[in-house]
Amino acid sequence: MFRPLLIENLHVAYGKAEVLFGVDMEIHPGRITCLLGANGSGKSTLIRAILGLTPPCGGSIVFDGLEISGLPPHKVVARGIACIPEGRKVFPKMTVEENLRMGAYQNASASRTRENMARVYEIFPRLKERRDQLAGTMSGGEQAMVSIGRGLMGSPRLLIIDEPSLGLSPALVSENFRIIRRINEAGTAVFLVEQNVRQTLSIAHYGYVLSQGKLLAGGTPNELSNDAEVRRAYFG
Ligand SMILES: Nc1ncnc2c1ncn2[C@@H]1O[C@H](COP(=O)(O)OP(=O)(O)OP(=O)(O)O)[C@@H](O)[C@H]1O
Ligand SMILES: [Mg+2]
Repeated sequence: MFRPLLIENLHVAYGKAEVLFGVDMEIHPGRITCLLGANGSGKSTLIRAILGLTPPCGGSIVFDGLEISGLPPHKVVARGIACIPEGRKVFPKMTVEENLRMGAYQNASASRTRENMARVYEIFPRLKERRDQLAGTMSGGEQAMVSIGRGLMGSPRLLIIDEPSLGLSPALVSENFRIIRRINEAGTAVFLVEQNVRQTLSIAHYGYVLSQGKLLAGGTPNELSNDAEVRRAYFG
């Protein structure tokens, strides 16, 4: 468990081009919190700011009581935040198991790594069957499993996932959502960035909508689906 991740008045810019204009957000333990928003609205930028990849130019990000904005990425990760980036890149010339090992902390004990590996194989039996196959030869959906599995190898307290359903068939998208729910039910908080509004709202406990770098709305899935502005933007 952790004390909530609190984002306050977050401003992020690339050079002179400001992309996030004062965003406030809370990510709580135990929950799936989702972030919806059109292409280019700043979703991945917000993740980059949390991870320390693009340091904010204003505002604060507090995780578990500690200010993390401005920390380098490895220090953020060491505090228990893992991210599965957009495009879910795997190391193509490494086997499935080697890919998973890359997600373990460098200083994790061998027994801890074995435990986490067993947990990942329990969630994804397909990966266990194909542990010695080169990741680059796995199907798109299987590669998605590898990247989620790698994110779980560090047993994070908060798992951030950027658009996991991009480019997957409808059946695999549904499978992905089932897996994300299972990971959350087993105790990991999830911050899910998605464009698949209906399925995302069906598994999230709380959500935010970003529009051109500003929050358009925040609320429970029920509140968001009944919000007039959100409806206009997403449900026609
Ligand atoms: N490294 C960068 N340098 C300059 N501008 C950038 C950079 N990365 C992103 N941007 C710009 O910032 C804005 C927000 O991009 P971001 O990737 O955060 O959007 P997004 O909501 O994740 O979009 P998508 O749904 O397409 O992934 C866009 O206008 C984008 O062109
Ligand atoms: Mg993005």
